[in-house]
Amino acid sequence: MCGIVACFSREDCYGKLLAALRRLEYRGYDSAGIALLSAAGLSVRKRAGGVGNLAGPPLPGETGIGHTRWATHGAPTDVNAHPHVCGKFAVVHNGIVENFAQLKAELIAKGETFRSETDSEVIAHLVARAYEGDFFAAVAAACGQLRGSYAVAVLCTDRPGEIVCARSGSPLVAGCAGGALYVCSDVPALGEDACFCAAQDGEFIRIEGGVIRFCGRDGREIPKTFTRASGGGCAEASAAGSFMEREIGEIPAALSRTLEGLRDFDFAPCARAMRGAKNIFAVACGSALHAALAFKDAAEEEAGAPVLCFSASEFRSRAPLAGRGDLVVAVSQSGETADTLGAVRLARSRGAYVLAVTNVAHSSLAGEADLAVFMRAGPEVAVAATKSYNCQLLCLYYIAAQLCYYRKDRFPSYFGELFRLPEAARAAFSAFSAAEEIARAFRDAPAMYFIGRGKEARTAAEGALKVKEIAYLFAEGLPAGELKHGPLALVEEGFPVVALSTSRALLAKMAGALAEVKARGARVALLSQYEEALADPAVDFPVRLPALCERLMPVLSVIPLQHLACRLCLLRGFDPDRPRNLAKSVTVE
Ligand code: F6R
Repeated sequence: MCGIVACFSREDCYGKLLAALRRLEYRGYDSAGIALLSAAGLSVRKRAGGVGNLAGPPLPGETGIGHTRWATHGAPTDVNAHPHVCGKFAVVHNGIVENFAQLKAELIAKGETFRSETDSEVIAHLVARAYEGDFFAAVAAACGQLRGSYAVAVLCTDRPGEIVCARSGSPLVAGCAGGALYVCSDVPALGEDACFCAAQDGEFIRIEGGVIRFCGRDGREIPKTFTRASGGGCAEASAAGSFMEREIGEIPAALSRTLEGLRDFDFAPCARAMRGAKNIFAVACGSALHAALAFKDAAEEEAGAPVLCFSASEFRSRAPLAGRGDLVVAVSQSGETADTLGAVRLARSRGAYVLAVTNVAHSSLAGEADLAVFMRAGPEVAVAATKSYNCQLLCLYYIAAQLCYYRKDRFPSYFGELFRLPEAARAAFSAFSAAEEIARAFRDAPAMYFIGRGKEARTAAEGALKVKEIAYLFAEGLPAGELKHGPLALVEEGFPVVALSTSRALLAKMAGALAEVKARGARVALLSQYEEALADPAVDFPVRLPALCERLMPVLSVIPLQHLACRLCLLRGFDPDRPRNLAKSVTVE
């Protein structure tokens, strides 16, 4: 989604803004722009396409704003790119102005002329019309008219050296790094050795006189503490490979960090909710939803606690279900996903207790939940979730174990095995050569199925999502038992099927499904830790997984699938880190 950055630097402000925009690229975008303010006034450079298109002689000035835009209102063109300028003001915006049509009509009726099709341009006009000599008051008045979500940064030609920023519903952090002051969408944009502080909804950040100040709409200062970002810098993609490949390689280390955090985590504050929740819900989107479904499996089977699992957008679309006495587990890598946040707000407004699982300690989700578990996966730059998914699973299996403890007075039998996960994940890398072979065999297929049974049905869905999003190959993940109810119709000579079979009790049933697809000519890959499953004559591509207790196998079985998706993507000539149409942090509904 869009990323914003504001910078005050006496040296090379333009270069610093460009570098920050590059560090925001992972969020996903399709146009970019920069405005700098100098004694000569505003200079703006904005273009459709990548940040690289902004190259050219540096724009002059010590104060500037920049933007990466992920098109919502209006195509990704030069004109629709931010910053938007109106009179003395230049504005960058992340979010959606829901009442923009009405505001735009009112502004046009008052004589304003619009250049772009964006919702964001209304903000520049509103600020310009509200301005009576007080820059901050004009931004505050404009923000007061906006409905929807926004993080904005504004320059004013009357006030060189000043930037006014505001947050409502979209993330915004202030920080210092390398002698410059910044306000931006997230911590990785700050680069190495940064100190930062996140804004809360309704807060403003001002850069003025070489200092950063937080304040409320009335201008009254809000005291804040800045924290050093821990490894918060965004790693640069090395010649050795894409971010996605490196992030898959980091899975064992990330799982170790997750375990360290969980060991010290105090679940006592949610003991009451764990013990006595009337209903337990799990809400999330995308990959995090697949992890939430794995939580449902574990909580129901191990703790005997039924869990209602919802896509966060669906949870919001239905009559509110959760209320007082209920526990809602919300899962989000970024902690900024609009639908997940919306579901959490809805649940909390109805009195439910929210336990969040997120990778970003200063995220909105962490701030709004009653208690937050941090995954500690480290920054994930590639758009497709990989290491964060494995760490989410680990957190959620850990939470299911706590649920079991609070409800049954004992930990489930898999609890001790959780601590073997880092080593077992490393062992799962030995399946990469088999995944490579499968990728070469299936690279030109028009579509493929991923099938699993029980807990591996979630892994099948996750494998299919990865392939769709980065290899642009239609893939469906489904419970193997569903094949006969429709999907089998598509299976013909050469159709690729990737199956997961990691439960001994279900081996025979999976063998039946494989026989069905093989009889219709499918090419079959099978992932299992069981030799008898791998030796099935229906299997063309056996993928051997390391042995671990069955409950935890989804943490391992997904790893070769992540690698398979990445290899398919590269073989088909695409960039795994920046899939088309997608964004890392989905901050709009
Ligand atoms: C898939 C993927 C997305 C995210 C989803 C939720 O690879 O990355 O499906 O899982 O957008 O994002 P978070 O976890 O940040 O809420």
